[in-house]
Amino acid sequence: MPSLDGRIALVTGASRGIGRAIARRLAAEGATVVLSASRPGAHGDLAGTLDDAVEEIRASGGRAAGVTANLADESERADLVARAEAAFGPLDILINNAAMGKWGLPSQSTLADRRRMLEVNLHAPVDLAQQALPGMRERGRGWILNIGSDSSRQPDVPYRDTPEAAHVIVAYGSTKAALNRYTEGLAAEVAPEGVFVNVLAPVSIVLTQEAARFVGHIAKNHPDMAEPVEVMVEAALELVSERHVGRIVYSREILHNVARPVRSLDGKKVLGDAFLPADLEAVIA
Ligand SMILES: NC(=O)c1ccc[n+]([C@@H]2O[C@H](COP(=O)([O-])OP(=O)(O)OC[C@H]3O[C@@H](n4cnc5c(N)ncnc54)[C@H](OP(=O)(O)O)[C@@H]3O)[C@@H](O)[C@H]2O)c1
Repeated sequence: MPSLDGRIALVTGASRGIGRAIARRLAAEGATVVLSASRPGAHGDLAGTLDDAVEEIRASGGRAAGVTANLADESERADLVARAEAAFGPLDILINNAAMGKWGLPSQSTLADRRRMLEVNLHAPVDLAQQALPGMRERGRGWILNIGSDSSRQPDVPYRDTPEAAHVIVAYGSTKAALNRYTEGLAAEVAPEGVFVNVLAPVSIVLTQEAARFVGHIAKNHPDMAEPVEVMVEAALELVSERHVGRIVYSREILHNVARPVRSLDGKKVLGDAFLPADLEAVIA
């Protein structure tokens, strides 16, 4: 039986990138999935829309629906969980994946940019968790996964790329650091009631279109820094199906801890151990 049979999940930022891949895999594991993004259609020149993502899951036999909300706007996100639950029923799983970055040196980051990043990357995940929690607590069962980033901490020196590459992500990384702290505290509060809250970050760069645009050159110069999306997806699956409490973990780290192999996005094929470079190369190829 698929591991998430009968579960209902909401994944934000699921029109493309990591969120879309997670939604696809959850559906392949039997979950009914509500996908969200700010709009149903195209986002500028980036390929992939919310409507496409929902259709892709349905075409492969899964149950899915789409809901839209600009997460930067508190009134638009105020009833997002209610609208998601209206589609299929109470949520078992909430994955706060949507995020945005405005890149600039920390000495020059504008208040407007910092406010927008905080809205999408911190306040929205907290608001959505607060919307989902009453039902999860009442049922004594739930999983909330916040997607983090390695940019939440100052990188070791010497930097793997130019110093500028490390500096321009400081404001964005600060929002992810705040999300880590909030997650740990919330997890400690609600774990006794059967709700498991964690943060998962890629160990390196997942070459989504957005990431390729801004940090693709780093992955090109340092191929060991490119992470197949399947690794993140597998780690997400672990954290929304098992009992982990308040962990701030990296994808390969958690898979190593629990000795879990990485599977393809349709769940049908084992691709290998997340820690074996040879297998990772096969995944990338
Ligand atoms: N890719 C990486 O290497 C990497 C590294 C570290 C951390 N992460 C984290 O992983 C997560 C996913 O990253 P990604 O690279 O897959 O992102 P992405 O390709 O840029 O996709 C972002 C998703 O979030 C949605 N979104 C953005 N702003 C939104 C808003 N204001 N309201 C509603 N939805 C919004 C987008 O939907 P629209 O269609 O509405 O634009 C899209 O579906 C993020 O939390 C990111 O911080 C990624």
